[in-house]
Amino acid sequence: MPVTASLPPFSPAPPATDAWTVVAQGDDAATLKRLESLFTLGNGFIGVRGVVEEAGRSTAPVVHLNGVYEVTPITYHEKAPGFAEASDTRIPVPDGTRIDLTVGGEPLDLTTGRVLAHHRWLDLRTGVLHRALRWRSPAGRTVRVVSERLVVEDHPGPIVIHYQVTAEDFSDEVAVASRLVPHHAPAAKAPAAEENGVHDPRLGPQTTAPAFRRWVEGPDGITGLVLRTRRSGQGVAAAMAHTVTADGAVLPATVRDNSELCHMLRTTLAPGGTLTIVKSIAYAADKDTHGTPADDEAVGRSAIAALTQAQSIGLPALRQARTQALQEYWLSADIAIDGAPHLGRAVRFNLFQLLQGAGRDGLTSVGAKGQSGEGYEGHYFWDAEIFALPVLVYTKPAVARAMLEYRHRTLDGARTHARLMGHRKGALYPWRTIGGAECSSYFPAGSAQYHINADVAHAVRQYMDATGDDDFLVRHGAEILFETARLWLDMGHYNPRHGGRFCIHEVTGPDEYTAMVDNNLYTNAMAQAHLEYAAAVAERLGRERPDALAALAQRIGLGDEEARGWRQAAEAMYLPYDEPSGIHPQDDSFLDKKPWDFAGTPADHHPLLMHYHPLVLYRHQVCKQADAVLAFCLMPHRFEAEAVRRSFAFYEAVTVHDSTLSAGVFGLLAARLGQMGKALSYFNATALVDLDDLHANTGHGLHMAALAGSWMALVQGFAGFHALGGIPRFNPSLPPGWDGYRFRLEFQGNRVEVAVTCDAATYRLLAGPGLSLRHGGEVAHLTPAASEATFALAAVTEGGAHAPL
Ligand code: BGC
Repeated sequence: MPVTASLPPFSPAPPATDAWTVVAQGDDAATLKRLESLFTLGNGFIGVRGVVEEAGRSTAPVVHLNGVYEVTPITYHEKAPGFAEASDTRIPVPDGTRIDLTVGGEPLDLTTGRVLAHHRWLDLRTGVLHRALRWRSPAGRTVRVVSERLVVEDHPGPIVIHYQVTAEDFSDEVAVASRLVPHHAPAAKAPAAEENGVHDPRLGPQTTAPAFRRWVEGPDGITGLVLRTRRSGQGVAAAMAHTVTADGAVLPATVRDNSELCHMLRTTLAPGGTLTIVKSIAYAADKDTHGTPADDEAVGRSAIAALTQAQSIGLPALRQARTQALQEYWLSADIAIDGAPHLGRAVRFNLFQLLQGAGRDGLTSVGAKGQSGEGYEGHYFWDAEIFALPVLVYTKPAVARAMLEYRHRTLDGARTHARLMGHRKGALYPWRTIGGAECSSYFPAGSAQYHINADVAHAVRQYMDATGDDDFLVRHGAEILFETARLWLDMGHYNPRHGGRFCIHEVTGPDEYTAMVDNNLYTNAMAQAHLEYAAAVAERLGRERPDALAALAQRIGLGDEEARGWRQAAEAMYLPYDEPSGIHPQDDSFLDKKPWDFAGTPADHHPLLMHYHPLVLYRHQVCKQADAVLAFCLMPHRFEAEAVRRSFAFYEAVTVHDSTLSAGVFGLLAARLGQMGKALSYFNATALVDLDDLHANTGHGLHMAALAGSWMALVQGFAGFHALGGIPRFNPSLPPGWDGYRFRLEFQGNRVEVAVTCDAATYRLLAGPGLSLRHGGEVAHLTPAASEATFALAAVTEGGAHAPL
């Protein structure tokens, strides 16, 4: 078989040092699942893992749709009133990425023949996943495959794959089978919560596959299918369309087999000849119609419409629209680090994935893994409000609002949950959920985390401070705040044994290695802030929007005296402090517990949750993750600086960081305390959590909260940014080894760039009417006419107090 003279050399490798490109390192079976997670593409609704197109390499589900789930009953052998009855488990939907290629009768299979070159890279500016493969078949046919994949920006934008095959040195038949394959769960005896025979609670249970309902057809050979979940009654449609270009004649045929769809193509290629396929796969879902045939038809039609629309726009324009949307995002969100470009790229990657994972339709939020993997069943946790949302508030406020609208939409579920938990009024958000009901089957580390209510309230406040969006407050925010604030009064009490202070008992704080405690510092301090803010909002609406307040009060039966009660409880809130040690105990009992034997814990016994009964952990002084430390970060004004410093040292010594949520928070506080060396290593641990697979489970999906944690550690830690009360404040410092860094923020309709070098911090107004901000004790007024202010950087001595606490 002669090598063609006209074919250019094969060199489509990406620039390895580009600050906007993430390149695959290794492609063996061990790194396969990790790469699939890292190369996930999405648009807040669809998430498609970065699988290669050919079959047989991956067993994990490939496509997830945000908010599309089946209800899986929870079976208990011993059950008490109020236990969660069922879990929402996100379903894998048919995988449309599959393209099986055969050259001269030999299937392209990376485990056979010879891989002569294989590059994959993700461009964070365009959102395109690139692939370039040169492969020699066992019989010696050399073929090139160059593909590009993107997910169209706007909901329900399809996935588009541009797949080009070139024959290098043979003349033969080339056959393509382009498939839409239902996800076949692995053998039933291997439940999803197990990997390699080891139970991992961070994975979800196996759920029932949705039932096939019907085929759907559109113009030009577009075909798809509709499925419906059996218990949650959600309809979901998937459809695919192809545009084919080839040098010779192409013989197409579409085959339906069971509920699998296959579009076959055959042509003959000579050396240098190409076959190009543009495959589009659209998904649509109705989330709660419970399935009449007419609904099946409607959801099917939506998928077809998404495809015809995408086809009429065409790939170049779709690619352009995606690039433009990302360009706009980076205008508000970009971060660069001088002197450590790999870290700058890591934060960009993290922000890119966070945006892709966050629901923007007001019906969904961001799951612990976004749509990048099956971990945690697709559930939304407090991660959404305390980690993801603060980043989005300052970089993509419209998405932050949509996520809060989701919480408002699920208030009824939270009300029902509150009743089940014995509260006569108010609402209690579930610890983990998709549809709005509590899905945690282990209440000590689930429903007992009442802080979720205050976390949502904190997010409302942060969103309001950053945007001044009164329309949101009146329509949604106030109702969320009031209904959730009511719970604290119902569950807490003025305790004579604590001098009449307001105490909250029997809760679990963020540290899940300590459960069911009294007066968890984080919970009490967050509840205090929540009650204060809810009272302030009620007072403000009473003054400025009395009609709106009256209507809301009537709807939820809010008495005049309730807001006064909130303020009183906030003023009397008990925040544990231990005089002898001068630290804030995590709760009333933490300091009395037996110390954990860290030195005697075998290295292979981490994470502890995989090796010890929870009670063993609960009775020891060992923390899974930041708890009190997070309280110090979120409410710096509430705590005295030296107590924070002592407490930080104490918690650092007893925290194992088994949750990926922890490192960013410790990094944030270390930076504010001026402990820059430590702050940098915590920052690295959160910035590289998935790119370097630091917790060895990136394959289950990306850790959305930890990705957000890298932004928090940099912007709120190194730059000392916070804006509680509506005034942006900064207190920047530079970590060792960096030459500088810069980032952008959206605040009250302004776009600001902050650039920090070794001796100065510069604030630039890039867009908007202007704003005042604080740099340490100084004030800058930025206006379009005077849009820049520079301040000398205060020297930070390692360990010296730095940011306001
Ligand atoms: C953490 C929780 C978190 C959950 C989902 C757990 O390991 O302890 O705080 O909400 O993961 O990310």
